[in-house]
Amino acid sequence: MSRDRDTQSAAPPDLYGRARPDRLMRFLDVFGNYYLPAVTKSDRYGRRPATEPSAPLRLVVTARKALAEDVVSLRLAAPDGSPLPRWQAGAHLDLYLPSGRRRQYSLCGDPQDRFVYRIAVRRIEGGGGGSAEVHDILREGARVTARGPRNAFPFAADRSVLLIAGGIGITPILPMVREAARLGLDWQLIHSGRSRASMPFGAELAALEPGRVEILPDDEHGVPDGAKLLSRASTGAAVYCCGPGPMLDSVRRAFDDSAASALHFERFAAAPIVDGRPFELKLRRSGAVLPVPADRSALDVLLERNPATPYSCRQGFCGVCTLRVAAGTVDHRDSRLTEQEKAAGRIRVCVSRAPEGSRLELDL
Ligand code: FES
Repeated sequence: MSRDRDTQSAAPPDLYGRARPDRLMRFLDVFGNYYLPAVTKSDRYGRRPATEPSAPLRLVVTARKALAEDVVSLRLAAPDGSPLPRWQAGAHLDLYLPSGRRRQYSLCGDPQDRFVYRIAVRRIEGGGGGSAEVHDILREGARVTARGPRNAFPFAADRSVLLIAGGIGITPILPMVREAARLGLDWQLIHSGRSRASMPFGAELAALEPGRVEILPDDEHGVPDGAKLLSRASTGAAVYCCGPGPMLDSVRRAFDDSAASALHFERFAAAPIVDGRPFELKLRRSGAVLPVPADRSALDVLLERNPATPYSCRQGFCGVCTLRVAAGTVDHRDSRLTEQEKAAGRIRVCVSRAPEGSRLELDL
């Protein structure tokens, strides 16, 4: 599972569409944007930024359940039953699988339950092998190591929210639904997917407040476009959206014409390559030179040569794929590396590239 997060929002204008010039609004802006974040280390909505991985957690699989076609859920707990670190809706766990693969899975259980984490994983045939390993190896009693939870898709208690989930993208959205209901917000959920049989949590969603949940299987309604998905947003609503890339792209395209005021999303796919140009990688130790075509990432090419190449999010977020460049100019396309890290030659090969026709020599 890999993800991409982003937020689009706009400060509300006054009744006449002008920026608010009065002193009270200026004070509230400064208070919300500068004072509160400085004091609480959170943004104006109380959301804390994603943090670097914490100390490793040793966990045991206490239960495993088939939820839908190719989807299993795992319940994870401390082997001695001790309480687990707290988390909030939208958080994920970095799981270290027995093979050494590291994958991120959204927590889809109850944040109030301090003793159990729940994740749900769809088997991706032909993927990187992480989901197949979860399905085939992680039986009840299996031990795993994890880091986190971390939250890069935080849920703010906006008065009105529209939650949109595509397929297994329901996993971070489900705790948001529960939180919205608990807080008495005006919320709506749309869950789309290939078919009802492929969509997990049907029974849990059916138990939610009637009239607030819309289930849209593609084989019954067709694939919904962004405009249709956003049509349930009330004026000024915040939209939280998680699912496959095409769904998110469609929602993003339709967002400006919707009644919603903010869009927060998490993508379960590799970041799309925008304006890619071909370049070369040279592996310093072997001397091998690998061409990187315009439509593939450096990570894709490295994985082809060595399927054990570490990665997780494939979107420049987690840092698992970070390597050192011994020579060459990097076209950095992640937003996480610091200037010092870039100056030290670090590169996130899942997204970053090199100028057309040039060569990056990797310390590999
Ligand atoms: S795989 Fe996560 S940053 Fe590259």
